[in-house]
Amino acid sequence: MIEAADIARIGRHLSGRDVSGAPAIWEVRIDADSDLADPALLDHARHQTLMRAYQSRYALLPTDGAPGDVVEQLRRRYDPLTLAMVEATRTELEDLLITPAIERARATAAGIDWATYAETLLTTVRAAPESPFVAFLRTSPHREAHYRNFVLQSSADLLAEASASALGVIGEFGPAQSALFRILIDEFGYGVHERKHSVLYRAVMRGFDLPEEYNACWPLFDTAALRLHNTIHCLFQNPRYLFLQIGFLLHAETAYQRSTRDHFRYLAKFHPEVDARYFGEHAHIDLHHTRMVIEEVAAPLVATHGPEVGYEIVAGAELTRLAFAEAGDQLLAVSRAFDAAIDQGRAAPRRPDLSRAGAPVTPSSAVRLDPTALVQVGGLGAVEAGLFADFPQDALGRVPMEVAA
Ligand SMILES: [Fe+2]
Ligand SMILES: [Fe+2]
Repeated sequence: MIEAADIARIGRHLSGRDVSGAPAIWEVRIDADSDLADPALLDHARHQTLMRAYQSRYALLPTDGAPGDVVEQLRRRYDPLTLAMVEATRTELEDLLITPAIERARATAAGIDWATYAETLLTTVRAAPESPFVAFLRTSPHREAHYRNFVLQSSADLLAEASASALGVIGEFGPAQSALFRILIDEFGYGVHERKHSVLYRAVMRGFDLPEEYNACWPLFDTAALRLHNTIHCLFQNPRYLFLQIGFLLHAETAYQRSTRDHFRYLAKFHPEVDARYFGEHAHIDLHHTRMVIEEVAAPLVATHGPEVGYEIVAGAELTRLAFAEAGDQLLAVSRAFDAAIDQGRAAPRRPDLSRAGAPVTPSSAVRLDPTALVQVGGLGAVEAGLFADFPQDALGRVPMEVAA
């Protein structure tokens, strides 16, 4: 078991390597000097450690360059001994944080015919009403803050969209692999940088006045956002989960063709100045991606390798459905709690100031703060610590530095 002492040791090592002024994209820190006796903060720091393990698989460069010798900085960022130290925790952290959900999804999926499941999924998604979060936004006078938080929490994965699934494409596994590669090149804008989905997502970040560089917002990700990120990455960074990966794609592409349409319409109505091409593009192209996953990936793999493949695909889809549902429920619960705090005059929408993010605080650790101290909650704004203590358990706040001092 990776305990608080292990997280603290890794955290000290990672922060010791931190070069002040280094671009955020190379950030490797975790919140290991927080109160890890608080189970919620320990859970959060474990998820951050797992996120760092996954991020270390990707080549990352700051958009505008960095002062100093970039070769030397890459050597430092990707120092093999440090990477090995974090990587050594990966399997145990996955077993602790992700595997139970995989096992539950497999139990649900056992014996379910994948083709029937896929057909039902399509019908259900297309017939479903607008998502509860988007419906809530239409009624909230503070919708800009709520949407800013949604965009921020989703950015953990989307600012490097499809880098996780790219790991599921390399290797050698027949015609299905080539179909997956065609989906992947769409995700990468068919080689046109401006159309790459992560680049389109940057425009949404800009639209809500958020930093657009990958990894810049890491201190504000709540535990639910990290859990979703890590669930996706756990699948794609483990080739043994190949068929679960396809289940992920089946659900994600199907659900996305619908949810992105809702978001596109919402933005057009309430934030028409925001560049919403990210959502418009997905509402269109994910119709094709869903069909490709079903016809060119799932069907031939099941035909060639047998029904167990189908059960794994359903398990991957169910895992994905639950992971997105939990993240969505958490987002909505935090937004509702924040609106209730505003109504009491004890919270106010505010853009996050990442230059003074400060110490992390969970609802359970907030009870030890001065109840009137202000806690920044993700992209939402500031709420009094006394009320933050009643927020959903997976929420994460920061006590901006000058307040903490
Ligand atoms: Fe995409
Ligand atoms: Fe897609």
